[in-house]
Amino acid sequence: MVQAWYMDNAGSNEKAENHKNPPEFVSLQELFKKTGVEYYKLNLASLDSDGILEKLKTQRGYTYEDQVTIRPTPDKLEEFEKKLKIFYTEHLHTDEEIRLCVEGAGYFDVRDKGDDWIRVRVDPGDLLIIPAGIYHRFTVDDNKYIVAKRFFVGEPVWTPHNRPADEIEARKDYIDKLQNGKFVIAN
Ligand code: LAC
Ligand code: NI
Repeated sequence: MVQAWYMDNAGSNEKAENHKNPPEFVSLQELFKKTGVEYYKLNLASLDSDGILEKLKTQRGYTYEDQVTIRPTPDKLEEFEKKLKIFYTEHLHTDEEIRLCVEGAGYFDVRDKGDDWIRVRVDPGDLLIIPAGIYHRFTVDDNKYIVAKRFFVGEPVWTPHNRPADEIEARKDYIDKLQNGKFVIAN
């Protein structure tokens, strides 16, 4: 099962779990309430046949799909570091960010209502939907390896808007949805 917890911001290794002492876990319900982030557990062995991912894609209008691998390779170490630096810089997007972990693992950090970091760990089969306009960041764990499927409605726009980006319409919409309880789970 996916795990989420409040982060201790004092740690020097961003790829570690960075738990508070004692740990402060966040349930999926709480995560949704405090951030609008949605989580789905998928069975990777039956991904193409059980219809669950298909249903989600239809419901949410995902028409684009690709797969990315993030790992350091000897000839592209610099590229790996550069990519991770961009991913771990706090940012938002004007569209939702959908990631299905198929191999390896990673951490998505999302800001909650009170602007505190919640760290969500993804392992194979974990699918996260990170709403448009939420401040977030991403890193791999100490194994430095993740393979993830990405989905998108229409032509993908991956542009990160680094914080502060409060004037962006998607940010204002997000705040409005969060504060006025407008996030609803479709199924
Ligand atoms: C992204 C994730 C890593 O923007 O936040 O692709
Ligand atoms: Ni992002």
